[in-house]
Amino acid sequence: MKILLTGSNGQLGRELHRELETRAPGLSVYTDIDTLDLTDRTAVETFLRAGDFSHVINCAAYTAVDRAEEEKKQCLSANVDAISNLALFADELGFKIIHLSTDYVFDGKAYRPYREIDKPEPLSVYGVTKRKGETALIGLAPESMIIRTGWLYSPFGKNFVKTILELGKTGAPLRIVADQTGTPTYAADLAAAITDIILSGHWSPGIFNYSNEGVASWYDFAVAILEYAGMPERAAGITPIPSSDYPQAASRPYYAVLDKSKIKATYGLKIPHWQASLRRCLDRINQN
Ligand SMILES: NC(=O)c1ccc[n+]([C@@H]2O[C@H](COP(=O)([O-])OP(=O)(O)OC[C@H]3O[C@@H](n4cnc5c(N)ncnc54)[C@H](OP(=O)(O)O)[C@@H]3O)[C@@H](O)[C@H]2O)c1
Repeated sequence: MKILLTGSNGQLGRELHRELETRAPGLSVYTDIDTLDLTDRTAVETFLRAGDFSHVINCAAYTAVDRAEEEKKQCLSANVDAISNLALFADELGFKIIHLSTDYVFDGKAYRPYREIDKPEPLSVYGVTKRKGETALIGLAPESMIIRTGWLYSPFGKNFVKTILELGKTGAPLRIVADQTGTPTYAADLAAAITDIILSGHWSPGIFNYSNEGVASWYDFAVAILEYAGMPERAAGITPIPSSDYPQAASRPYYAVLDKSKIKATYGLKIPHWQASLRRCLDRINQN
C-alpha cells in the first residue's frame, strides 16, 4: 500500500497527515500546491507514474466560497481540472481515489437529511465546480469514492471555530446567522474515518456522506464554542440573525444536513456527535 495525499497543508490534509503517520507510518507521500500543482497535467502524470501509488486521497481544492464568485476560472481549475488530471491515470496505473466534496452541491430546500442519491442543485460557483468535479471523477474513474462533508473545522487554518474564539475575546457584539442548518464536522473525525476506510481493505466505490452527528445552526455552533471555551456570558450575548442581515457573495443552502446511513452501514463507522467533537477540538487548541 502506498498513499498519495494531496492538499496535505489544508485543514483536512493536516489531520489526515497526522492520522496516517500515527496508524500507518511511512506509507504515504504528502503534497500540496507548492510541491505538486494538480492543475499541471504533465507534472501530475510524471509524479503519478514515478509514484506507484495504490491510493490517492485528494484534499486539494479551491475553498474560498465567496471569493469564488469572482475567481470562477481559478475555482474551476482547482476543483475540476485538478481531479480530472488525477482520474485520467487511475485506471492505467491501478490506484484508487478518495475525493472530498461538499454539502454545498445541494440547494438546501429539503426538509430531511440529504441522501447521496438526492439531486444536486448547487447555488454558488464553488458548489457548481465541486459538483462538476464529482461528475468528472465518476466519468473518468468510476471506481473512485467521493465523500461529501460540510462545515469543517480543526485547530489548523482559518475556520468558524477559530474566528468565533477570536471574536469572543474581544468586546465586539456578536450577531450570528440562525436560519442556516447543518452539522459541524471535526476534520480529525473525518480523517480517522478516511483512514479506517483505506486500512479496512474493503473498497466500495460511489458517493458517501460524512459529517458529525447532530444538527445545528451557525448560531447554535457559535454559542457552543463560547460556552465550552469558558465564555458563557459572551455565548448568552450572541444575537441570532437571519441570513438576509449578513449578506455574502455566495448563496448558501438553508438546510445542509447529511444522512450518513450509507457510510455507517458500509464501513461500520461510529460517528461522534458534533458537541463532543467540538470539546475535543477546543482541548487541542487550548493545549497548543
Ligand atoms: N472547509 C469546509 O468547510 C469544507 C466543507 C465541505 C467540503 N470541503 C471539502 O473538503 C476538502 C478539504 O477542505 P479543506 O477545508 O481542508 O481545504 P483547505 O484548507 O482550503 O485546503 C486545500 C488545500 O489544497 C491546496 N490547493 C489548492 N489548489 C491546489 C492545486 N491546484 N494543486 C494542489 N493543491 C492545491 C490549497 O493550497 P492554498 O491554500 O495555497 O490554495 C490548500 O492547502 C475540499 O475538497 C473541500 O472542498 C470543505
